[in-house]
Amino acid sequence: MKVTEDLAELRSLRAAMNGVFGLVPTMGALHAGHASLVSRARAECRHVGASIFVNPSQFGPGEDFNNYPRTLEQDLALLESLGADLVWIPSPEMIYPPNFQSWITVEDVARPLEGASRPGHFRGVATIVAKLLNCFQPERAYFGQKDAQQLVVLRRMVQDLNFPVQVVACPTVREPDGLAISSRNVYLGPAEREAAPVLYRALSAAKEKYDTGERNAEVLRDTMRTIIRAEPLASEEYVSAADPETLNELQQIDGKVLLSLAVRIGRARLIDNILIEG
Ligand code: PAF
Repeated sequence: MKVTEDLAELRSLRAAMNGVFGLVPTMGALHAGHASLVSRARAECRHVGASIFVNPSQFGPGEDFNNYPRTLEQDLALLESLGADLVWIPSPEMIYPPNFQSWITVEDVARPLEGASRPGHFRGVATIVAKLLNCFQPERAYFGQKDAQQLVVLRRMVQDLNFPVQVVACPTVREPDGLAISSRNVYLGPAEREAAPVLYRALSAAKEKYDTGERNAEVLRDTMRTIIRAEPLASEEYVSAADPETLNELQQIDGKVLLSLAVRIGRARLIDNILIEG
């Protein structure tokens, strides 16, 4: 596995790799969710690359940029064990040089949900991912379904700006009690960790209503709200039952629906979702 911080070296290493190249962009603090992306890329591509960069522009003021877990040695060991070929660890100065002024703003699909709670977040995500796609030139790029809106935003960007890459969505990896695996789970204290599966319980209860015939989206949102509000350590930021492509809230469900929510538990802000394919 080649590891570099240097862009010129990355480009020349990449240029020597013929055949389908799969990229797994990450912010490090790798866990089983990232491992599933790398393994999927390994199974589908001739070469597998990963980036490790805690992207400051996708964190808002007062968010956890400074405290975001950084575990570089372990991350590299995991990537090596999973068979990654090429890892880029750019510096912030390389990604955002002093006179940087070119940002990518995806419009409607970046506005609700995470976009409303975290202004500027998707501008940071779209910009860094565009830069990573330009630098690696992958044929495929792998992202977790856990960040469902991120996938919608990035698919829009890739289509609108004609990036020659296939965006691949990989299933959310969960702890045995249903908690979606996330780098931010380390912020949970023991009692908060016990409370955290409430997100998946709420989503599962709404899905069960759907499975037994409920098609009124407000009933599904209410089902999630009631379960979140019954957990004293949890405070709801939003619950949503939206069209998976436009992310507009639905009233009546005719086909697919994306159930999603954001909940604060202690100092952790957790998100999760279930995509119902209809
Ligand atoms: O999903 C993430 O970890 C980040 O948003 C990404 C895609 C690596 C961009 O910084």
